[in-house]
Amino acid sequence: MKPSLKTSEALFEKARGRMPGGVSSPVRAFGKVGGVPRYIAKAAGPFLWDEDGNQLLDFCLAWGPNILGHAHPAVVEAVVEAARNGLAFGTTHRNEVALADLVLEAFPEHQLVRFVVSGTEAVATAIRLARGVTGRPLTLKFTGCYHGHVDSLLVKAGSGVVTQGLSDSKGVPEGLAATTVVVPLDDEAAMISAFDQYGPKLAAAIVEPLPANNGLLQQRKAWLETLRAQCTKHGTVLVFDEVINGFRFHFGGYGRLMGVTPDLTTLGKIVGGGLPVAAVAGKRELLSQLAPLGGVYQAGTMAGNPVALAAGIATLTELRKPGTYETLESLGAQLEAGWHRRSKGLGLRRVGSLFWPWLDASAPPTTAEAIAPEVVARFHQSYGRWLDAGIYLPPSGYEVGFLSTAHTPAHVDRLLEVMFPEAG
Ligand SMILES: Cc1ncc(COP(=O)(O)O)c(C=O)c1O
Repeated sequence: MKPSLKTSEALFEKARGRMPGGVSSPVRAFGKVGGVPRYIAKAAGPFLWDEDGNQLLDFCLAWGPNILGHAHPAVVEAVVEAARNGLAFGTTHRNEVALADLVLEAFPEHQLVRFVVSGTEAVATAIRLARGVTGRPLTLKFTGCYHGHVDSLLVKAGSGVVTQGLSDSKGVPEGLAATTVVVPLDDEAAMISAFDQYGPKLAAAIVEPLPANNGLLQQRKAWLETLRAQCTKHGTVLVFDEVINGFRFHFGGYGRLMGVTPDLTTLGKIVGGGLPVAAVAGKRELLSQLAPLGGVYQAGTMAGNPVALAAGIATLTELRKPGTYETLESLGAQLEAGWHRRSKGLGLRRVGSLFWPWLDASAPPTTAEAIAPEVVARFHQSYGRWLDAGIYLPPSGYEVGFLSTAHTPAHVDRLLEVMFPEAG
C-alpha cells in the first residue's frame, strides 16, 4: 500500500514558494529520484518518522554524522546540559579543550586543531592555509571528490586528462576555477604528470582518502602512497579531507588505516555528532600560521559553539568505547554477504559501515569517469519503491549509504528484503 504523504506534499508545496527549490540543500529536493521529499518530524535510533506518521528505516543518517543513530541518549543529554549553561558565549570555554584532546588523540600525527562550523569552511581554511604557508596559488584535486562548495573546488575534469579547472557552478570566476588542477583518481601517471607540470605552483593537493561522494571509489594504498611521495617531493601540502571518512572506520582517520600521513586533515560530520562542528587539524608548523599566531586569517562567530562541541564530545566518547567499530564492521559484512546472496550478481562496494549499491553485474568502478549513468539510473528508478516500503536511502545513486551502531542485523536483513524481494 502506498503511504499517505498529504502533509509532506502540502509542506513541500509551501516551501517551494518560499525557498529555492523548497530546500536548504539541493540534494534534499529529490530531483534525481522523483516524488516528494519526506518532511521529517522526529528521529530516534535507526528510524525517521515523517509528518504523516510513516516510519522509515534510515540508511542516510543525515549524510553521515549520526554514526550512533539518531538522538543517542548520551549525546542528547550532553547537548541539553550544555544548552542549560548558555547557547553561545563567543569566548573560550572548556568544551574546546575537551574536543581538541579527543581529536588529537585520534589523529596523533597532528598537534593543533581549529574548530569551524561546516566541512566547506574547514576545507576553505585548509586551502587558504596551504597557500599562505607555501606562497603558491594552485590546488590539485581529483575528479569526483567533493570538498564542499568552496569556489575554487567546485571543479571536475573531462575524462582521462590533466586539466586546469572549469567550474561546475555558475558564479565562480574563471580565474578562481583555474587555480584548481584536476586529475582522475586511480591513475598514478596522470597524477605525476600534473605534479611535473604544476609542481612549483601547487600549494595543496586535496583528496578524500576514501572518496565517498561520487560512489565509493576506493583507491589502492599504493596510489595514496604515490600522492604522499609527490607532495613531499614538490613541497605541496597534502590535505586529507576526512569529512566523511574521519571516525567512520576506527577512532581516527582513514589515512592512518592506509599508513599514509597527510599534513592537514579536514573533519566534519561525526566530529559534531549531528550538530554543526567541523575542524582542521594539522602539524604545528602549519596550524600555527593561522591567526592569531600567524598571518592566515580565519574566524567565526559560531566556531567552537559550546552546545555543538558538547555533541561532538559525547559522540566521540561513545565511539571510543571498546567494540563500537567491531559492531559496525559486522553489520557491514552482513550487508555485503546478504547482498551477494540475494542480488543475483549485482555489485556493492562496501568499506566498514559505508556502502554503495552498484546495480550492475560489472565490478563497481574506481574512478568517476567509469561510472555509467545508466547503472546509477537503475537506483533512481527503484528508489520510490524502496521508500514506499519504508527504507530511506540517500536520494541519489551517486551517494553512499551509512550504517550506525543503532542498526541491528534485523535492520540490515530488512534493507535486503526490500531491495531484493524476489530473492525470498
Ligand atoms: C568529503 C567532504 N568534504 C567536505 C564536505 C562539505 O561539508 P559541509 O556540507 O559540512 O559543508 C562534505 C559534505 O558532504 C564532504 O563529504
